[in-house]
Amino acid sequence: MGLGTEMPKSLEAIRYVPGNLMLLDQLQLPFREEYIDCSTPELGFEAIRSMKVRGAPAIALAAALSVAAKVFNTHQDYKQGNELARQTQKWLSYLKDARPTAVNLMDVVFKLTVFCEDWIKSNSSDLNDSSKNFNEAFQKACQDLLTQDVADNKNIGSAGAKHLIKILGKNPFSMLTHCNTGSLATAGYGTALGVIRCLHETQNLLHAYCTETRPYNQGARLTAFELVYEKIPATLVTDSMVSYLMSLGKVQAVVVGADRIARNGDTANKIGTYQLAVAARHHKIPFFVAAPFTSVDLALAAGNLIEIEQRPAQELTHVQGVAIAAPGIGVWNPGFDVTPGSLIDGIFTERGAVISSQQQDAIYDLSQPFFEV
Ligand code: MRU
Repeated sequence: MGLGTEMPKSLEAIRYVPGNLMLLDQLQLPFREEYIDCSTPELGFEAIRSMKVRGAPAIALAAALSVAAKVFNTHQDYKQGNELARQTQKWLSYLKDARPTAVNLMDVVFKLTVFCEDWIKSNSSDLNDSSKNFNEAFQKACQDLLTQDVADNKNIGSAGAKHLIKILGKNPFSMLTHCNTGSLATAGYGTALGVIRCLHETQNLLHAYCTETRPYNQGARLTAFELVYEKIPATLVTDSMVSYLMSLGKVQAVVVGADRIARNGDTANKIGTYQLAVAARHHKIPFFVAAPFTSVDLALAAGNLIEIEQRPAQELTHVQGVAIAAPGIGVWNPGFDVTPGSLIDGIFTERGAVISSQQQDAIYDLSQPFFEV
C-alpha cells in the first residue's frame, strides 16, 4: 500500500499460526500496513526494542509467541523434551530485557519459565516423542495467552463502562485518553480504549478525545486510526491542549492505560499521563487507569521503584529523519512517567473496578483489592 493513499485494513497487531509470528509494523501506521516476520526470539526482541510492536500486553504476547514459533520450528532438533524446555527458558530470559518499564513482559517470561519447569518435573523425558509433546504443550500455553488477553480486555471495558455510567449517569458523556491502548496495543479490543469502545457500543459515549502523545505520536498515529476505523466520534488534540479542553467542560472523565502499577496504585504509563491526572484533579474530572492485572507489580511498594525507559534523543530532535530542533541541544526523553495513586480515582481491571476510597488522597493496596463488579 502506498504512503498516504488508503487506510490500512487491519487492527490486528499480532498474527500467529504455529511456527509463524507476523507483527504489524506500528512504526509505519497509519500510512502503510506491513506485517513483519518475527518467528525467532532475536526478531521478536528487535521488534519490541524498536517499538514496531508496542503497548504493554502486546509486547508480552509478541515475546511469548516469538519463542513459541522458534520452539515449533526447531523441536525436531531436540531428542529430549527437557533439553528443549531448558533452551526455551533461555530464549525467554533473553526477551525479558527487550524493554524495561512494562511489567507484563517480565510477567509472561516468569509464567512461561515456570511452565517449562513444571513440564520438566512432570514429564518423563526419555520418551521418544518428548520434544514433540513439549512443543504441543508450549504452543497451547502461548495461544491461550492470546485468547485470555482479549477476554480480559472485554471485561476491563465493561467494568470501566459500568463504573463510569454509575458515576456520570446515563446521558452520553465525553472521554479523554492518552497514547494507544487499543487493539494495536493488545491481542484485541484494548484496555483504556476498550472502555471507550464499550461506552460507544452501549451508546453511552458522546465523544472521544485523544492526545497526540509525545514522543512518538502514538495517539495521533494509532489511537486516531483506531477511532476512525471504528467510526467512533473523536477529535485529536495535542498533549498541551488538555487543560484548556478540560476548562471548557468538554471532557467528563479520563481513562488511560498502564505499563506498571505499583502496590499502592502509583502508575507508570506513557509520558504525559501524569500531567493529565494533575489537570483532571484541578478541574474535578475523574481520572481512571484501565489495565489487566498482569500490569500490577505487587512486588513494588510504590511507583518510585519503577524503572523508566529512556528513549533516544533523536525521537525529539527529528521527525521522520528530518531535524526539527537546534543542533547541539541537550535532550531528556523518558518514555513514561509515574502518576501517583493519590491522583487516580479508580483502576479498572478484568476482575472489576478498584475504586479509590478517598477522592483527595487515594490509597490503594492492590494486594488486597476491593473489586466493584
Ligand atoms: O511505549 P509504548 O507504546 O509501549 O507505551 C504504551 C503505553 O504507555 C500504553 O498506555 C500502555 O502500554 C498500555 S497499552 C494497553
